[in-house]
Amino acid sequence: MALMTWTAEQYGTNVSFADEEHQKLFGLLNTLYDQATNGADRSQVGASLDALIAFVVDHFAHEEKEMQAKGFAGYEAHKAEHDALVATCADLQTKFHAGEADVTEEVGQMVKTWLDKHIPTFDKAYGPALG
Ligand SMILES: [Fe+2]
Ligand SMILES: [Fe+2]
Repeated sequence: MALMTWTAEQYGTNVSFADEEHQKLFGLLNTLYDQATNGADRSQVGASLDALIAFVVDHFAHEEKEMQAKGFAGYEAHKAEHDALVATCADLQTKFHAGEADVTEEVGQMVKTWLDKHIPTFDKAYGPALG
């Protein structure tokens, strides 16, 4: 079962690039979660983990660029949230490829919990400025 399902009601920001990227992000996360919790090859899980993290980094950079371009007041606090998740992801990625950590159910739930808070609070907040 998919870990995350995008709906406009729950995750819509009124900013088209963000909504499109969030749906792609959910798809990459669901693929990783399905592989990791269904015993896929470790190399396959690693490739999906790398693809997800690369996309997340690009997505955050895109949001930050647009917020800065509009002089959005919430930029600093929003970027701090992004930086914290990227640091957590980079740590997991390093440990995974060193054979010291795995992508587990808990990892999936951690990312879901983060997104369930971040998109409705932080991302929806830039809607009026960027939409
Ligand atoms: Fe976002
Ligand atoms: Fe964000």
